Amino acid sequence: MESDLLGRKNLLYTKSNSKCMDNFPKRIFIYNDSASLSEAIVNSLERKLRERLLENSPKPLGLATGRTMEPIYKALVRRLMTWSKVERDKLLDTWCSFNLDEYIGISANDSKSFRSYMIKNLASPLGLNLEKLKIPLSQTDNPTEEANSYKNQLNRFGGIGLQLLGLGKNGHIGFNEPPCEKNASCRVEKLSFSTREQNAYAFHCDLNKVPSHAITLGLREILDSDEIYLIVTGKEKSSILSDLFISPVSPNLPASWLRFHKEVYIWTDKSAASEIPNLWH
Ligand code: GLP
Repeated sequence: MESDLLGRKNLLYTKSNSKCMDNFPKRIFIYNDSASLSEAIVNSLERKLRERLLENSPKPLGLATGRTMEPIYKALVRRLMTWSKVERDKLLDTWCSFNLDEYIGISANDSKSFRSYMIKNLASPLGLNLEKLKIPLSQTDNPTEEANSYKNQLNRFGGIGLQLLGLGKNGHIGFNEPPCEKNASCRVEKLSFSTREQNAYAFHCDLNKVPSHAITLGLREILDSDEIYLIVTGKEKSSILSDLFISPVSPNLPASWLRFHKEVYIWTDKSAASEIPNLWH
């Protein structure tokens, strides 16, 4: 992580083993703007993807959706298109990823489904076979069974290697809504008002159209991953990001369970980082 390969352009601040608490986060990177942040994350992801190509059976990647991730997928696609065809074909052949979550009750082909999001932002521009990109089914007679089968499928693959995470304004990760216990596993979750409000932008700002439930990987699967990149951007996330450092670990702040993970890297911009205490000393 320490190397210059990360790309330090516009890096305002980086620190490992924050003084705030034991080994959390393992490292924080604060960039001046979203473009520099995306490039830096992609530098790191590119290196990880190259390493995976050398492994016999690399663990799946854990992927997130949401507005935070859009510029990152865009930058990642752009970068991977600079790879040689041979190298890229190998990457696509050996690709295996599990998405964090999916709405229940909308058609998989609906433009608002996370499946459509992943096709648009990653699979289609890269030419990635959808079978290699696992996402829970949004339309099923038995969502609980689908959640269990998704969890079992992930377990058969050995769990997540690198997990990418965004952060909800109410402190959720994936769709693990507060209150959420540390051992909650993949399941059907009722979405909170705050989350439905946050995601209404994709539904013509009509709250009534935002699905009431979703399937999400749980804190258990997230905390079982080898490494976590928590990516947080924008002023509207500054308060909840600082809560991660100052609030007690609690079910009411699902992301606070990340403090129990030893390999969390926080990637953020200066707006989102503006309220984190004691950072600049
Ligand atoms: C959503 C998703 C998460 C996402 C988070 C942040 O509701 N379930 O996977 O990371 O909330 O979303 P955004 O990046 O749009 O702020």
